[in-house]
Amino acid sequence: MIQSWRLEDARQTLVLAARRERLPEVVYWGPPLPGADAETLFAARTLDVTGGMLDENPDLSICPEAVRTFPGQPGIIIRAQDGAPLLPKFCFAAEETRENGLTLTYTDADSGLTYAASFDLDPDTHIITAQARLTSDTPKHLHWLSAPVLPAPQQSDEMIDVSGRWCGEFQLNRTAWSPGIRYRENRTGRTGHEHFPGLLVPCRGATNTQGEVYAFHYGWSGGHRMIAEALPDGRRQIQFGHAARMETSAATEFRSAPLYAVYSSDGLNGCAVSFQRHLRDRIITWPKPATPRPVHYNCWEAVYFDHNMPVLKDIASRAAALGAERFVLDDGWFGNRDDDTRSLSDWTVDPRKFPEGLTPLVDHIHQLGMTFGLWFEPEMINPDSDVHRAHPDWALGGEDQTLGRHQKVIDMANPEVQSFIHARMSAILRDHAIDYIKWDHNRVLPAPDAAQTRGSYALIDRLRREFPAVEIETCASGGGRIDFGILQRTQRVWLSDSNDALERLKIQHNAALFLPLAVPGSHVGPRECHTSGRHLDISFRAWVAAQRHMGFEMDPRELDDREAAVLSEVTRWWKDNRDWMTGADILRLDSADPSVIAEQQMTREADRFVVFAGRNGTSAQIAPRPLRLTRLSPSATYRVQLVNRNAASTLSRGAPALKDGPIEVSGTFLMHGGLTLPWSFPESIWVLEGRQT
Ligand code: DGJ
Repeated sequence: MIQSWRLEDARQTLVLAARRERLPEVVYWGPPLPGADAETLFAARTLDVTGGMLDENPDLSICPEAVRTFPGQPGIIIRAQDGAPLLPKFCFAAEETRENGLTLTYTDADSGLTYAASFDLDPDTHIITAQARLTSDTPKHLHWLSAPVLPAPQQSDEMIDVSGRWCGEFQLNRTAWSPGIRYRENRTGRTGHEHFPGLLVPCRGATNTQGEVYAFHYGWSGGHRMIAEALPDGRRQIQFGHAARMETSAATEFRSAPLYAVYSSDGLNGCAVSFQRHLRDRIITWPKPATPRPVHYNCWEAVYFDHNMPVLKDIASRAAALGAERFVLDDGWFGNRDDDTRSLSDWTVDPRKFPEGLTPLVDHIHQLGMTFGLWFEPEMINPDSDVHRAHPDWALGGEDQTLGRHQKVIDMANPEVQSFIHARMSAILRDHAIDYIKWDHNRVLPAPDAAQTRGSYALIDRLRREFPAVEIETCASGGGRIDFGILQRTQRVWLSDSNDALERLKIQHNAALFLPLAVPGSHVGPRECHTSGRHLDISFRAWVAAQRHMGFEMDPRELDDREAAVLSEVTRWWKDNRDWMTGADILRLDSADPSVIAEQQMTREADRFVVFAGRNGTSAQIAPRPLRLTRLSPSATYRVQLVNRNAASTLSRGAPALKDGPIEVSGTFLMHGGLTLPWSFPESIWVLEGRQT
């Protein structure tokens, strides 16, 4: 007897099937499947057996069981309280179905364990959210719990996962499938620059714009483990869960974080658009959904810790004149924080820098028509702080631990600590008209601990309940805590500490596989970049910032008249376009020239788009290769114009039509012939607008 369950939408079908009340396996996941009863599917997929094999191949279930001679990594590794390893063997107990979702429950009487897996398919975004829950009749020690296990296709030669570093987030790694495991485990206790929890599995021939791709994201901020395993019989499984042994005490209930998964038949972009829409429209709760994303100003790279009221007011006035609508006062306003060696956790305004408190600055900023934001790093404590002197036991880790940026992590799982930090932060928020928090997290944990992440989530949730109008930016030395878990409670990410537009171009491009325009902040940095030493023209810096949630971070006093004029103009353009761009999809283009990184941001209706084609180096060939667009209506006519055609260099002597003005061509031409752009310098960007006529 086969039990089966089916989830489907216009894009995909997922069929789960099980025999003899065992845990089910995914017997089909792909484009919409006509008819076919599960019994037939199950039988049709059954692998043959030959010499050297068991008499029947063990199921690759949603939670592979070691006790059934499964030849790969099991879905659960758990011990009794006395340390004895347990090998649960689950049997069907209950099902609960709902619209586009189901929860299946299984029990193992011998170990007293109950396993429940839930699957929910969003028919609009096409994201499948899968989550596992394990309960026990007595406390047990958990080593590993995978979110429900999904198969990976065998028509795939490689997988793409994500690594990075400070100022170089979202680097894509392509790894060939081979027997055994591609194993990523993040034991730092925070999502990290190095370990964005995402995986893309393209089938042979897939690119940004075409082909089949399966994609996964694990929504958890405490560090994950990913297992992409090719079993000896060729089958492939994908497991995602918290990093192993993050539960430090025995317990009776454990949960995986949500695993977000999607199938696409139109390339990496199909997955990217699903993640972008799901994050923006389902996961994030926007305090003021009807308010446009405000142009942001952050004073960090202008003044660092040197907070001086007249200077800050002057900078704020200049930022407002350039078009900024929000001013964020970064690190340096509290305790006696003159550098990064002290005062974290002393969340009271520094009277030396702000003798009358923050209110005069906040008032000045409001008079300029801007809202006000403030920086905190709530999970951290400096040994040189009043709070540490009073409560040295509040810090995690041993006395002899290696510090990170001179700081320790404060124990968020301790209710007393959480209440203290909450009281300090809420007092600041209550006493000032604050619309925005930049929430930083600049070091890793001394040891991974899921309770710390849950404590951080609880603090943010509590503050959000009390101050629902306050927006929060997640930052961790730039992009060190970006995932859908933190984004359930925050709205913006500081994608990278790199304000170098050339680096940003690459980071933003790859991050678009998961993040929509509304979420990653992108700031126009100083003329000489502080993290790379590079000098980049204002036009390039401004347009790269205009690709995402635009902001400035340079000292506006350094701008000459030309730079101020260019920045004001690009900012005006961004404001004129942000309403439709915020709801648009970011589509990565398959550029024929590796020195061109290009994307197309387009409305759902495919009637309006903007293309950014950035040059990250010199090209191998002399003339630009045509750039093919994507997802347009083939027979529609589009009017396309080069927004910044005045930026054409004097070395560009030819006559491509776009240099003179708009062209009107069909969607088919744009998608197959492509756009022939004027010749340009490296470190420059073409911006094109298109409208269906
Ligand atoms: C790291 C952040 O990424 C920066 O933007 C800035 O806020 C500093 N911390 C402040 O210490």
